[in-house]
Amino acid sequence: MHTEIVSVDNDMDNFVSYQQAVDILKSGGVVAFPTETVYGLGALATDAKAVQRIFEAKGRPSDNPLIVHIGNKEDVSNYAVDVPENADKLMNAFWPGPLTLVFHKKPGVIAENVTPGFDTVGIRMPDHPVALNLLRALGGPLAAPSANRSGKPSPTEATHVLTDLAGRIPLIVDGGKTGVGVESTVLDMTSNPPEILRPGGVTREMIEDIIGPVRAEIEGANEDDAPRAPGMKYMHYAPESPLFVIEPDETVIQEAVRQLHSEGKKVAVIGPDEFTIPEADWYFAVGPLHDDEAMAAHLYGSIRQCDLTDADLILAVGTEAEGVGAAVMNRLLKAADGKRFNG
Ligand code: TXA
Ligand code: MG
Repeated sequence: MHTEIVSVDNDMDNFVSYQQAVDILKSGGVVAFPTETVYGLGALATDAKAVQRIFEAKGRPSDNPLIVHIGNKEDVSNYAVDVPENADKLMNAFWPGPLTLVFHKKPGVIAENVTPGFDTVGIRMPDHPVALNLLRALGGPLAAPSANRSGKPSPTEATHVLTDLAGRIPLIVDGGKTGVGVESTVLDMTSNPPEILRPGGVTREMIEDIIGPVRAEIEGANEDDAPRAPGMKYMHYAPESPLFVIEPDETVIQEAVRQLHSEGKKVAVIGPDEFTIPEADWYFAVGPLHDDEAMAAHLYGSIRQCDLTDADLILAVGTEAEGVGAAVMNRLLKAADGKRFNG
């Protein structure tokens, strides 16, 4: 299969730009498209055969449920039941935006394989003009996981999608780099209090400002806990070489690189713009020190760049697990499989 890339940047608001994508989706195919978080691989969520193609293209275990994307807030009632008042408040505050809300599923509407074995459904309204225009031109819901091969970091540029899925999908809608850079916050509204199953761009602090205390027990990679967000149990975002989280201290990193060199290892470092680590074999800058938003935006791209080197080991600078930093540390510790560099 040939994978075509169509750029909509110059005519984003013209629905003609989306006709090819809409035609493919309506005939049961899959299309990659940008959201404000990461690129998604979409299929019509009411078409089980189309949804099956997502799992095949990604090589994704089919027991891991997919998020349903909608173009209007009002569409929620088409797919979910028992939507609590708190959820209305959150939708008004954060939609469109990087917040997925898990509700009880309305039976018989969304294809069974979108949420295999679950009586719940995760729904979000993405905050990206291309995603919203595509959803509105299509006039239906899109089931869409991140558009990477299973086990790779989520794509934040169309070229990342092409690297992973060339020959496996017919079309990538290119809308440039995504903004947030890590996947949406997943909040389970069916438990009381609501529980953050995956930290993301809408932070715990922002949610609690609107609806009061929520549960959030997933600071790091608690892979052994029985996962409520099934995606959590799979090894994710794994770089080719082992990755270690290291403290944001220039001297500590320089010392670590020296030590690893003495063991004959080539080292790639992911760190802030300001650090100078002349000994590092590769250095990938992810924005100003302590700027968690910038780090989120650049993290997956920098892990992909490490994969293009022949580094034996990756050192990635950590941050505080607060605000967007919670999402950054969650993804970093997953990529590290929990490992921290301690010399
Ligand atoms: O930002 C995002 O959310 C991106 C873009 C494309 O929208 N999508 C994304 O999808 O990250 P995916 O499939 O890679 O991650 C979905 C996460 C998984 O951890 C999954 O287990 C969880 O959401 N999830 C989906 N439906 C769920 C449900 N009904 N109950 C619990 N967890 C659910
Ligand atoms: Mg994913």
